[in-house]
Order: sequence, then C-alpha cells, then structure tokens
Amino acid sequence: MAKNLIIYYSRKGQNYWNGSIKSLTKGNTEIVAEFIQKAVDGDLFEIETVKSYDADYYKCIDDAQDELRKNARPELKRYLDSIDGYENVFVCGPCWWGTYPMAMFTQLEKLDFTGKKVMAVMTHEGSGLGSSERDLKKICKGAAFGKGLAVHGADAGKSEGTVISWAKKVTVGG
Ligand SMILES: Cc1cc2nc3c(=O)[nH]c(=O)nc-3n(C[C@H](O)[C@H](O)[C@H](O)COP(=O)(O)O)c2cc1C
Repeated sequence: MAKNLIIYYSRKGQNYWNGSIKSLTKGNTEIVAEFIQKAVDGDLFEIETVKSYDADYYKCIDDAQDELRKNARPELKRYLDSIDGYENVFVCGPCWWGTYPMAMFTQLEKLDFTGKKVMAVMTHEGSGLGSSERDLKKICKGAAFGKGLAVHGADAGKSEGTVISWAKKVTVGG
C-alpha cells in the first residue's frame, strides 16, 4: 500500500473561471490531485455526495452557502473507514465560501489522524487557502501539518511543475 493518501473533492460542470462561467469536463481540484499522485505515488480517494450539486453555478453556490451556514454534513456515496497504514494525507478541495465543501468534513470526522502528516490543498478563484488549514487543525486531531498549497483554479492545468515539486518536498519533511 502506498504511504500517501490523496483525498479530494472536485465538481465538474459550470464553474467560475477567470472572471466568467465555464463548463469544466474535469474539475480543477481533480487535476491537481492527479499531479500529486504522479509526484508521490499515492492512493486517490474521491469524495462524492449522494445528492449532487446543481450543475448551474449560481444554484450551486447558494446551496453550498446554505450548507456552510448550517454546518451540514452531506451524506457520501462511499466512505473511507480507516487511514491506518498511511503516513501522509493530502486533503484537496475547491475553496467554497472560504473553506472546503462540507462533504469533506463528513469524511474527515470519521477518521483517526493520530500520527499522520496532513497537508491542505485548495484550488480557488482568489481566496487562496482560505481557512482550510485552520479548519483541518480543528478536525484532524493528533496530526502534524505540512505546508499547504493553494492553486488558482483556472491555472490548475498549468500547475504540474509547482504541484510536483511541492508534493515531493512536503513528504520528506518540508
Ligand atoms: C459553491 C462554490 C463556492 C465558491 N467559493 C469560492 C470562494 O469563497 N473563494 C474562491 O476563491 N473561489 C470560490 N469558488 C471557486 C472555486 O473555488 C474554484 O473555481 C475551484 O478551482 C473549483 O474547483 P473544482 O473544479 O475542483 O470544483 C467557489 C466555487 C463554487 C462552486
């Protein structure tokens, strides 16, 4: 088993992309998660909600804001039961209202992070890492934290070099 785990959430379809709405066939975070896998040879785990978000960008942002306000924990299609055996865990998601989609927390809260090294990875349209690192510190009890990485979503496809060198560095003590 690989010692690196890459958990990610990513939403295909309409998204805000460099100032206009564009329909993505592959989500920005998925692109970045795959670069991390290429760099460190990890296992990928995709977070998928039972109830999918509206394909329409504006409806999706309203629903996401509502979930944030309620601190909701949307149900997932499948769950990771354990992360025993992994040393490093990359938590990758789009910035939704300043943090991860609530579905990421649904999964993280079920895991024991004692002794793991956790890295925040966020794709965004201006908010950078938002509160992701702070939020992970509250949820991933007992973990150590490596330097996080923010990738501008619209540049995800061009981020391979940056992502790969960061991922290699952070898994060897950076
Ligand atoms: C519901 C929703 C909320 C968003 N909120 C923010 C935000 O607060 N700050 C920001 O910089 N970008 C925000 N964005 C833009 C996304 O973070 C960005 O497009 C990201 O790269 C999308 O990744 P994905 O294609 O993997 O889902 C939001 C997008 C959506 C759909």
